[in-house]
Amino acid sequence: MAMLRKAQIIKHDREGPGIYRMDFFSPEVSSRVIPGQFIHLKIREEGYHPLLRRPFSIYDVDNERGLFSILYRVVGLGTRIMAKRQPGELMEIMGPLGAPFTLPEEKGKIILVAGGMGFAPLHFLIKKLLKRNMEAEIILGARKAEELMGENDLVQLGVNFILATEDGSRGFQGQATDLLDKKLREGNYDYLYSCGPYPMLKKVASLALSRGIKGEVSLEEIMACGVGACLGCAYPAKGDKGDLTYKKVCQHGPTFSLEEVSFHNGPGD
Ligand SMILES: Cc1cc2nc3c(=O)[nH]c(=O)nc-3n(C[C@H](O)[C@H](O)[C@H](O)COP(=O)(O)OP(=O)(O)OC[C@H]3O[C@@H](n4cnc5c(N)ncnc54)[C@H](O)[C@@H]3O)c2cc1C
Ligand code: FES
Repeated sequence: MAMLRKAQIIKHDREGPGIYRMDFFSPEVSSRVIPGQFIHLKIREEGYHPLLRRPFSIYDVDNERGLFSILYRVVGLGTRIMAKRQPGELMEIMGPLGAPFTLPEEKGKIILVAGGMGFAPLHFLIKKLLKRNMEAEIILGARKAEELMGENDLVQLGVNFILATEDGSRGFQGQATDLLDKKLREGNYDYLYSCGPYPMLKKVASLALSRGIKGEVSLEEIMACGVGACLGCAYPAKGDKGDLTYKKVCQHGPTFSLEEVSFHNGPGD
């Protein structure tokens, strides 16, 4: 049963051009949520527009203070309205929802690949991996330097990270997947996690699987109900017998194993 609750905005800061971090007070969410899960946020307290809630990954949690945070980019009506919300206001949230990332049972070398806002769920995950003394490094990719997310957070966490920009304005010049290809040739990795745009995830999965590396991706689909009832977020995936089926990103995901998602039959193909 999806939980509906009001959560108070404690802090709401601009983190970059069109990028905001919103911190909520909700001990019920912060004590339960696992990396990879998301909340479904009601944008307006009054009126019907926009009608549908909007999904956001959990970016960070502060259990002692009962806080959880999201990191979001303004892309349309809902996020434009959100950007005007003030600390002290209440927002209605549904969640935590969705299947979380699974953590490797054995210690090994982990590589994460974030494209743009795909950094949001990976930030919470990487904190959990570090708590378990896992060896993890992350590739942060973007089109240009201004769109790179998370550098300061990763410096604070003391995590190894490598930047890739398509225009070469910071770090490696090229796509995050070009850098991943190079890293996978150089090092022995045991597990991979990724979140970002669909074409990036498709290439990430192909590079990892061709080297026998297991891992998981977090998918983003436009959602309506958020709880598996409307089929609005169905995504091509492999069934138990390798046959093509559809899985609901909100309920079976948003995290899926690299083998499970049918990237050859996805949007854009
Ligand atoms: C599980 C999940 C976790 C997410 N986590 C984050 C996050 O941590 N930070 C963040 O900034 N965004 C995240 N998103 C995407 C976020 O939900 C959308 O950007 C948001 O709903 C857009 O609302 P809007 O009203 O501003 O845009 P709209 O006016 O609804 O749409 C504007 C544009 O954004 C596209 N869009 C809308 N919804 C999505 C979506 N779900 N995925 C991809 N494109 C979309 C539309 O096609 C359109 O081009 C997540 C999505 C999912 C499914
Ligand atoms: S959003 Fe309704 S089934 Fe996923």
